[in-house]
Amino acid sequence: MNEVASKVVVGLGDRSYDILIGPNLIEQAGKQIASRLPGIRTAIVTDENVAGAHLARLIDSLKAAGIASTAIALPAGEKTKSFDALQEVVDGVLAARLERGDAVIALGGGVIGDLSGFAAGIVRRGMNFVQVPTSLLAQVDSSVGGKTGINSARGKNLIGVFHQPKLVLADTSTLDTLSPREFRAGYAEVAKYGLIDRPDFFEWLEKNWQEVFSGGEARTEAIAQSCRAKAEIVARDEFENGDRALLNLGHTFGHALEAATRYDSTRLVHGEGVAIGMALAHRFSVRMNLASADDAERVETHLKAVGLPWRMGDIPGNLPDAEALLGYIQQDKKVARGTLTFILTRGIGKSFIAKDVPASEVLGFLKDNHPG
Ligand code: GLY
Repeated sequence: MNEVASKVVVGLGDRSYDILIGPNLIEQAGKQIASRLPGIRTAIVTDENVAGAHLARLIDSLKAAGIASTAIALPAGEKTKSFDALQEVVDGVLAARLERGDAVIALGGGVIGDLSGFAAGIVRRGMNFVQVPTSLLAQVDSSVGGKTGINSARGKNLIGVFHQPKLVLADTSTLDTLSPREFRAGYAEVAKYGLIDRPDFFEWLEKNWQEVFSGGEARTEAIAQSCRAKAEIVARDEFENGDRALLNLGHTFGHALEAATRYDSTRLVHGEGVAIGMALAHRFSVRMNLASADDAERVETHLKAVGLPWRMGDIPGNLPDAEALLGYIQQDKKVARGTLTFILTRGIGKSFIAKDVPASEVLGFLKDNHPG
């Protein structure tokens, strides 16, 4: 059995939990869960693709530690973040007669983690929850910090609760089966932590990204650094009353582009939207005389080097015009009483929350950067 390569603690008092990061951790899941939650039974929520690759190993590992499990496999994809799927999970957990002290285990990417965390948060007013994220995006972002939920016809992630897991097991071996595009999209969130407040980490990524992409220790290190960065922010602002909003760097532009492309993953996936959004946030900061053009260029050069899109023109097909894009931004949930809130920057690793950003400036910027 492999040793756990890395541990990050999310410090939330008596709700603190460990994130364990390393290869083949699924084989240790039973042991790690049993030592923290002795005597429990579990429901594993997963999707049909992930089930084929990893479910049997997880069930075996739980069984070896004396933990009984029932599995609920749902269709893969964003459509699964729905009320119907939530009902299926809730019903499956109740049918298995799990109690509040038992655990829901999410085995999968962000969709499965968000959905099953929400189910765990509401069944019996809050059951134990364990995350076993299998995508890079889920390992460095969505499995950490307790945001759970589903989508509404009116927007993504609009229905949910904060419900922290008891343990996150990031098995880095699961990343070997991701498509290069999916891995790259998750990498955008890794780079984000450097750009928020860790300039040394961004510099390290500029030098070591190839090793991160090819696997091994550099990959584990990048995931651990990302989790550490997120854990620090979550520990000081669990419910996003302040600093946690920094994690939305690149997301305001990114969400607007995702909506503008109707969440068509053949054109744009979330991490790609974040990559373009981060590049735009830096360029917009230059326009607002906050950051230097050199810093914006550094961001663009790095995104280009790893093969991520970095400008709106990199999205295949036509985009709605600048006015329509601004409309999507104004619908974003970070609009407070009609003023626009953006995460802007004073340079690499110097991001900050900018309230009252004038819509006219954003519109002018979108017009100047629109590919059409
Ligand atoms: N993904 C942003 C957050 O967890 O706050």
